[in-house]
Amino acid sequence: MVRFAFAAAVAAAVASVSTALPLADTPAAAAGGQLAFSLPSSDSSASSLVAHLDLADSFATLKPCQRKKLEQWVAGLPEQRLVKLGEDEAPIWITEGEKALLTMAGRRFVDVTDEDEQLTVAVAESEPFPNKLTYKKADLQPLFDHVSLGKMRKFLTLFSGFRTRHYRSDTGKQSQHFLLGQIKQIAAKSKNPDQKIKIREFKHSWGQNSIIVEIAPKAASAEATVSDAMFIVSAHQDSTNLLPFLAAPGADDDGSGSTSLLAAFASLVHSGFVPSARPVTLAWWSAEEGGLLGSKEVAQDYAKRGVKIHAMQQIDMSAYVKPGTEEAIGVIEDFVDPELTQYIKRVVENYADIPWVATKCGYACSDHASFSAIGARSSFTIESTFENSSKDIHSTRDTINAEGFSFDHMKEFSKVAIAMAVELGGGENLFA
Ligand SMILES: *[C@@H]1O[C@H](CO)[C@@H](O)[C@H](O)[C@H]1NC(C)=O
Repeated sequence: MVRFAFAAAVAAAVASVSTALPLADTPAAAAGGQLAFSLPSSDSSASSLVAHLDLADSFATLKPCQRKKLEQWVAGLPEQRLVKLGEDEAPIWITEGEKALLTMAGRRFVDVTDEDEQLTVAVAESEPFPNKLTYKKADLQPLFDHVSLGKMRKFLTLFSGFRTRHYRSDTGKQSQHFLLGQIKQIAAKSKNPDQKIKIREFKHSWGQNSIIVEIAPKAASAEATVSDAMFIVSAHQDSTNLLPFLAAPGADDDGSGSTSLLAAFASLVHSGFVPSARPVTLAWWSAEEGGLLGSKEVAQDYAKRGVKIHAMQQIDMSAYVKPGTEEAIGVIEDFVDPELTQYIKRVVENYADIPWVATKCGYACSDHASFSAIGARSSFTIESTFENSSKDIHSTRDTINAEGFSFDHMKEFSKVAIAMAVELGGGENLFA
C-alpha cells in the first residue's frame, strides 16, 4: 500500500505538491519541468521538493545518522524519473532517490516514466460480469478448508523475517527467491495432469522480479468454448520503511496479501482446479512502493503484446482488524471498475464469513491502478475501511505480533480469491 500520511499535519500541508510548486517560476521548470532538490542541511531553497513537501517536521525527528543516510540514499540514486501525484495532475521529474521524500511526506505516486499512454484500452474486454454466481458456498467449502492458518503463519513469519523486502535491496531479492521457491513447491504437488501451471519471473532492472503464475484453461466439453481474456488476482511482495534503508518487516503491507494469495494458490492446486472459462493468473508484484513500478511494467507488456484481460483484483493488506471494530472486507470504490466492484461484493456476500464494507483510498493506492491505466477492469480489496486500516505500515512495528493482526482475517481474503478464480475462471472441470 502506498501510505496515506506520515502524519495528519504533514498530509494536510502537502495537499497538492504540484499545485503548490511554483514550477513556472523556476528556471529548471522552464527548462523541462525538473525540480531542483536539496536536503535542508545543504540548502533550504524555497523551490526545493523538500520545502514544498513540508518535511521540516519529519526531518527534525531524524537522528543525525539517519539524516546522513537519507542524504546518501537520495544522492546515490540520481536517475531521473517521471512521477504523477494525482489523477489530473501533470507529471513531474524527480530522481529515483527523491521518491523516499514523497514516501516520507505520505504522498502517493505512480512512476509513469516508461508508460505509453497509447496503450490504453488495448486490452479492454466488454464482457459483462454475470448477475448471478454459479456456485454455492458449500461447493467451495473443501477448497476453503484446505487454507491452513498454520501454513500461512509459517510462511509469513519467514517472509516478514527478511530485514526488508525493499525492491532495491539484496534482502528484497532474497525474499523474492524464497517466495518463488514456495510457489514452485506448491505447484509441484499438483496431482491433476490436466492442471497446466506456468510459473515465471518477470525481470525488472532493479533486481527484485515480479512473479507471475498462469493456470491454463481447458474447455469442459467439445462444445464449450474458452475465452483468452484472463482473470488476474494479485498482491505486492515488496515492503518499505518510511526511511527506505531501515528494516521493513511488512507483515501487513503487503506480506498479508501475498500470503492470502499463496494460500489461495495452494488450495486451487490441491483441488485439481483447471479453469473451464478463461485463464487464471496469480501475480506477486515487485516495487509497488516505488510507484507501482512492477505492475506497471507487466501491464504495459500485456498491453503491448495484445494479451487480453477480463478482470483484475488486487489484495493489499488483509490482516489487520482494528480492535473494537466489526471485522469486514474493505471494498475500494474509487479508481476502480464499478461493475467488477459490485461483482466482488456479491462474491463476498456468498462466500465469506464476514460482510464487505465500502471504502475509498484515493489516487494510485495500489497496483490495480496500473491495470486501470491500460483500460483493464480492476478492483481492490483491503482489510477494513481505509480509515481503520493499520497505521503501523512502513515501520518496524508492521509485524505479525501487532495487536489486531489476524490470520483468520487473512483467510477470508484467500476464500474470496479462490471464489473469484472459480467463478470467473470457470469451475466446470472441478465439479464435472
Ligand atoms: C473506525 O473504527 C471506529 C471504532 O474504532 C468506528 O467507530 C468507526 O466508524 C470506523 N470508521 C470507519 C470510517 O470505518
